[in-house]
Amino acid sequence: MDDLNLIFNRKSIRHYQNGKEVGKDKLKLLIQAGMSAPSAVNICPWEFIAVTDAGLLDSLAERLPNASMLREAAAAIIVCGDPERDDSGIARKFWVQDCSAATENILLAAEALGLGAVWTGLYPDQERIGKIRPLLSLPERIIPLNVIPLGYPAEKILPKDKWEESRLHWEKW
Ligand SMILES: Cc1cc2nc3c(=O)[nH]c(=O)nc-3n(C[C@H](O)[C@H](O)[C@H](O)COP(=O)(O)O)c2cc1C
Repeated sequence: MDDLNLIFNRKSIRHYQNGKEVGKDKLKLLIQAGMSAPSAVNICPWEFIAVTDAGLLDSLAERLPNASMLREAAAAIIVCGDPERDDSGIARKFWVQDCSAATENILLAAEALGLGAVWTGLYPDQERIGKIRPLLSLPERIIPLNVIPLGYPAEKILPKDKWEESRLHWEKW
């Protein structure tokens, strides 16, 4: 049950303590958690960009109104997909699912480390992607799925109870 509490306690955090850094060791651990996600045929078509530079975080916030909390964040991870990773088209089909699983692992790892984090969407919004592609020097074939702003929480948010018995269908709909 202790392990499941991590899942039930996860919540989006959008305000972070000013000046409290997230060390590179912690960022690496988060990305290690991301890379432990399940992946179709284990192609692992993901790439991760870790950003700690305050100027770059501000520039990302400026271009992404949906992720304005990047201004307060100590760091961010951009989860990217490489749809051309394999020759058989598996990554092309499944990169979004693989990278989403990696993202959830990062969010859960952040919760475990006492960090605040939130998934802010990029793909499939081409306008958002276009705005940040040059800033991050992204190769053309690489598609950013989301930005995860990170920091030590500066707000107390209760996890939402989303359980709805009526959404559960036993055996058949
Ligand atoms: C695909 C996806 C895109 C999201 N995009 C944003 C976003 O752009 N900005 C934001 O503040 N939150 C974003 N969120 C976070 C949701 O708003 C949040 O998960 C939802 O309100 C439920 O709250 P909880 O995470 O605390 O359970 C996104 C979440 C998902 C899964």
